[in-house]
Amino acid sequence: MIQTEKLLSWLRESQDRTFQLTGELSEEQWVGPEMPMVNTPSWEVGHVAWFSENFALGMGFGCESMLAGSAELYDSSRVEHPKRWRLQVPDRASTNDYLRRVQAEIIARLEAGEVGPEQLHYVLYVLFHQDMHNEAFAFTQQTLAYPLAGELAKRSAAAVESAGQATCGDIHFPAGQMMLGAAPACGFVFDNEKWEHPIAYESFDLAPSAVTRGEFRAFVEAGGYAREELWSSAGWRWREEKQAEHPVYWRRSGPEWEERFFDSWQGLRESMPMIHVSWFEADAYCRWSQRRLPSEVEWECAAKNYCERMGLGEQPFWQQAPEETVANLDYALPSCQPAGVESGEHPAQLFGNVWEWTSSVFAPFDGFVRDCYRDYSFPWFHERKVLRGGAWATASRMLRPSYRNFYQPYRRDVFAGFRTCGLRS
Ligand code: AVJ
Ligand code: FE
Repeated sequence: MIQTEKLLSWLRESQDRTFQLTGELSEEQWVGPEMPMVNTPSWEVGHVAWFSENFALGMGFGCESMLAGSAELYDSSRVEHPKRWRLQVPDRASTNDYLRRVQAEIIARLEAGEVGPEQLHYVLYVLFHQDMHNEAFAFTQQTLAYPLAGELAKRSAAAVESAGQATCGDIHFPAGQMMLGAAPACGFVFDNEKWEHPIAYESFDLAPSAVTRGEFRAFVEAGGYAREELWSSAGWRWREEKQAEHPVYWRRSGPEWEERFFDSWQGLRESMPMIHVSWFEADAYCRWSQRRLPSEVEWECAAKNYCERMGLGEQPFWQQAPEETVANLDYALPSCQPAGVESGEHPAQLFGNVWEWTSSVFAPFDGFVRDCYRDYSFPWFHERKVLRGGAWATASRMLRPSYRNFYQPYRRDVFAGFRTCGLRS
């Protein structure tokens, strides 16, 4: 059970992050270009405020909205993407103020001890929802080549390449049975994790760390983007349509490669995990390297194994600081760190650094029931792939071994990379 003090500090942290990420945008960037993969911050900040208000205050306490017509403006299920640039949303100061007032009201109710178990679920939901948007603000800014907020950019300069790459073979997992999904003892979980159920798996060999940019470069230079036989048919169609010949945010500089991190170009950091790849690119790399993506069952098996050995509980990050789990999360760096191997025994960095694509299609577990946020998972089943683990911009508090993220296989704006498995074990 989460303590009120902890929850209050989490809420404030998430709110500060939103303002840190959006506060330095110019007036032009506050609106931004109309593009399929991004949101306009002018809408997205209001959406966060509306969501928090609607769930924590509306569903939790039966309050009316402070902003007349807020759902018509900000309900993502009602407002189609292109419309978000064309609505008459409140001006910037009023939008920020709406978010501040909503949170102040939530905090006041927590401090007054009015939040019962049912309301607590809503409060945690709005916290994690804001955390998710705090990650989305960052990948929007990466997409649009905006600078990362000043304080974050300063700290990210500390991210350095590792001198030597530790080479370490796959970790072997013998065939067995495990519980897939979240246990009721986890406390807060999302609908798509419910509930744990036994599942058998074959033996598998999992790479101890994510594929690096240096490794991916070898695939690019081996003509990987020109060899149709390496791609799935949907992947090849996507590649043709995009005319992709190398990863997005990479460019040639003579014989070398450069990569863009927000607004700045730098030499390719070979020891860092590959990031900003679509599932299609990850899949093609696997075929080229005669490896494969892990399934989400295999990933979760490794993660539960890791948490058990580390003595971490059902919510590994609720008590434990991510540093203690060697996880690069929470904008701590804020950038990737090298895809190192801290331990030969456990796959380190299962959590943090980059989201990891799995081979699994996002699908409901048996007995799935839609949660209070009815459109969190349900509309996206069967058309997206599951990602696991979390990236440097992900809030550690929402992660656990059973947490499932899900994106369309063509997305490459997300902070996503992948690790591989041996073909036979
Ligand atoms: C769980 C990250 C895939 O961004 O589509 C935020 C999170 N849903 N607001 C998404 C979400 C509604 C969701 N992901
Ligand atoms: Fe949302």
